[in-house]
Amino acid sequence: MANIVYIFGANGFLGSRFRSLAENPRHAGDRFFFPERRQLDIGDFAGLSRAFRDRRPDYVVNCAGFREVDLAESRRDEARLANVTGVQNLARACLESGAKLVHFSTHGVFDGEKSGPYLESDPPRPRHYYGQTKWEGEREAAALLPPEKLLILRISWPYGPGGNNFISKILLAARSSDCVRVVADEYGVPNPASLLAEKTLEIMAEAQGLLHLTCSGSCSRYEAISLMVQSLRIPCRVIPALSKDFPPAAPRPKNIAIATERADWAGRLSMPGWREAWESCLARGESAA
Ligand SMILES: NC(=O)c1ccc[n+]([C@@H]2O[C@H](COP(=O)([O-])OP(=O)(O)OC[C@H]3O[C@@H](n4cnc5c(N)ncnc54)[C@H](OP(=O)(O)O)[C@@H]3O)[C@@H](O)[C@H]2O)c1
Repeated sequence: MANIVYIFGANGFLGSRFRSLAENPRHAGDRFFFPERRQLDIGDFAGLSRAFRDRRPDYVVNCAGFREVDLAESRRDEARLANVTGVQNLARACLESGAKLVHFSTHGVFDGEKSGPYLESDPPRPRHYYGQTKWEGEREAAALLPPEKLLILRISWPYGPGGNNFISKILLAARSSDCVRVVADEYGVPNPASLLAEKTLEIMAEAQGLLHLTCSGSCSRYEAISLMVQSLRIPCRVIPALSKDFPPAAPRPKNIAIATERADWAGRLSMPGWREAWESCLARGESAA
């Protein structure tokens, strides 16, 4: 059946992956809308309500948000407006119009003290303001919408062309220097953003609730960059460093690797290991940064 799908934040890193997917013949019958912030701000409930009343979307995918972890410490109002009030507004407008909200959250809601990967049942305990706002956004959406009308996808270290994240930044630096130092005592799971977007469209009709959408396995920032630099044959040495050598404005959790314990989705998602996913990107000629 043809669906009407709104993608918010489609000019951003993750959201822009949905633009190319929308052109796939598999979605030929569906109608996608990619409102820009200047056309439809998620801070504007009346605007959202009007738009959803007119177009009656089946799905609203929220890739909009304030994602700069360090800047969120000093620009708290802005971070809160996008990550909490904006999500509240989207959830209220979805409730009014009957649309299902698919909302992206982050592994950054955890404190990083667990020794294994964080599962959906682990209690969030954010260490920075960005993580706090993202967790609050999750809770606001869950309080407003019935379970079948909400899917929250927590993701970790998405990478791909045009990203403004540590993978893109360090690979860029590696291309113009002899060596780069990369933190070896912080862990997560690298994920191709294109794969995350593809899986989202695949599962959003059926999946509901909270789901950790991620490749399997985990690694340190250093391991991820070492593998990428090596396989891209960039002539640059990657040197392990300690997080205490690069103190950021916002404290970073040590281990925010995530995995899913959702038996209903783990098998059906068939997410590859993070290394395998990287190899597939290389084979397809998809760049990491
Ligand atoms: N990238 C990561 O490392 C990462 C990791 C885990 C989770 N996530 C989550 O994934 C989602 C997408 O992240 P991203 O990396 O794609 O972020 P991004 O590149 O910064 O893009 C965010 C987008 O949101 C839009 N936006 C911000 N405030 C808005 C508002 N009030 N109304 C409408 N649009 C607004 C921005 O529009 P403008 O360009 O006009 O400002 C931008 O297009 C976020 O929820 C983030 O928390 C990201």
